Amino acid sequence: MSKSIKLAILGLGTVGTGVLRLLEDNLAELKRRSGHDIIITEVGTRRQRDDINPSIQQNSDLMAIAASDNVDIVIEVMGGQTVAKDVIIHAIKQGKHVVTANKALLAEHGNEIFALAEKHHVHVAYEAAVAGGIPIIKVLREALAANNIEWLTGIINGTGNFIMTEMRDKGRDFDDVLHEAQALGYAEADPTFDVEGIDAAHKLALLASIAFGIPLQFDKVYCEGITDITLQDVTYAEELGYRIKHLGFAVRRYDTANGDSLDMPSLAQTATGIELRVHPTLIPENALLANVNGVKNAVLVNSHPLGQTLYYGDGAGAGATASAVMADVMDLIRVLTATNHGHHVPHLAFMPDALADTPILAIDHIVTGYYLRLQADDTPGVLAGVTGILSEAGINIDAILQKPVHQKGQVPIIILTLPVVESQMNVAINKIEALAAIHSKVVRIRLHDLT
Ligand code: HSE
Repeated sequence: MSKSIKLAILGLGTVGTGVLRLLEDNLAELKRRSGHDIIITEVGTRRQRDDINPSIQQNSDLMAIAASDNVDIVIEVMGGQTVAKDVIIHAIKQGKHVVTANKALLAEHGNEIFALAEKHHVHVAYEAAVAGGIPIIKVLREALAANNIEWLTGIINGTGNFIMTEMRDKGRDFDDVLHEAQALGYAEADPTFDVEGIDAAHKLALLASIAFGIPLQFDKVYCEGITDITLQDVTYAEELGYRIKHLGFAVRRYDTANGDSLDMPSLAQTATGIELRVHPTLIPENALLANVNGVKNAVLVNSHPLGQTLYYGDGAGAGATASAVMADVMDLIRVLTATNHGHHVPHLAFMPDALADTPILAIDHIVTGYYLRLQADDTPGVLAGVTGILSEAGINIDAILQKPVHQKGQVPIIILTLPVVESQMNVAINKIEALAAIHSKVVRIRLHDLT
C-alpha cells in the first residue's frame, strides 16, 4: 500500500536548496522508484524565506522538528559540530532515521552517533559526506562487501582540486580561484578546511573505517593541504612527467612484502598497521587520477579478488550532493516501507562488535617515493655531497634535474627518489639541510606511481 513519507530538511544552504530543487525536478521518478509519495513537511531555517512552497512549514526550532510526528526522516545539511550534533542525537532518540552530509561531525563524533543509532534501531545515512555525488560509501559497504580491501586512494576535495587545476592550466591566483569555488558552492563554510586538507582528512577517516572495519580515528590522520604548493613545483614536476594532486591514502600495511600493498620496496623496513594520510602527491601524468580535474573527485580502490576499480564524478556542489542525499533517503524509504523492516547494512560496514584494533601507523612509517627540491650554491661538489647523503641512507635516485636558473649564485636541484621509508628520508633531509651549500628548507612532496 502506498504511503506518504515525510521529510524535514535542516539547513537551506547550498545542499539544502539543492535537495529542494532535486525534489521539484525528479519527484515523479522518485515516486515511481519507491512506490510511495515523498513530501517535505518541514524545513529548519533561522530566518523565514519567501521562496519556499507555502505548504512546507518553516521553523527555527530544530529540536522540535527532530521530534515532530510530522517527520519520518531528518535530513541534516546545515553543517557544524555543535547544534548539528545535538539535533541528530535528539532525532535518533526520537526513533527517527537521519540523512546527513556532515563529514566533520561523523569523522569526529561518528563512533558515538552510530552506537546510539544502533541502540535506537535507526539508520544514520551519510553517502553525501564523502566525494559529493560519487556513491563511494555504497560501493565500499555493499558492492565490494565480498572483497578484502587492500588500499584506496583518491582526490576527495573538490575545492582543492578545482584550485590546483585552475592554477596549473590558467596560471590563476590561489585566492581568486578560491573565491570562485566559494561562489559555486563547492567550499566549506570555513574554506581553510578545504585548502588545509582537513575536509579530505574527515572523508578519509570515514572511508578507512568502512574499508577496513576499524573505528573512526580522525585524530590519527596525517594531514597536509595545498597551501604550500607553488607553481614552480608544479612546473618542475611536469617537466619530469608528473602531476601534483592532493590525495588521501588509506593503506593496509603488512609486515611482509606483499604484491598488493602500495609501493612496497622489497627491502623496506615497514610496520604492520594502517596508513591514513592526506597530502600533495606526485603521480605520473598518464595515471588516471592525474587527469581528474576541476571539481571532479575520484577514488581508486584496490581490493581482493576484484583488483583495482575507479569511481569518478563531481565531488562538490548542490546537484552532486543532493543526488547523494536523496539516494540515502530512497534507501530509507525502502527500509521504512518494507514489511519486515528490511535489511540492515552496518554503519561502518562491519558489525559494531567486530571492528578491528589494527594500529594506525605514524607518518614516519609510510613508504613512498619523493620529489625533493633544494636551493644550492652553484659550486663544484655540491651535487656529490647531496647524492652521497642519499646513497649512505640507502635511497635510490630515480631522476635529477638541475635548472640553470641562477639567483644569487644559487640553483634549484630537483631529485626524484624511488620508494623509501619516511623516517630514512627524514634523516637524509636533515643532513642535506645541514650542508653549508644548501639554502632554505628542502621542499619535499611525496610521490606514488599510480599507473
Ligand atoms: N568542500 C567540499 C569539497 C564539499 O570541496 O569537496 C564536498 O564535500
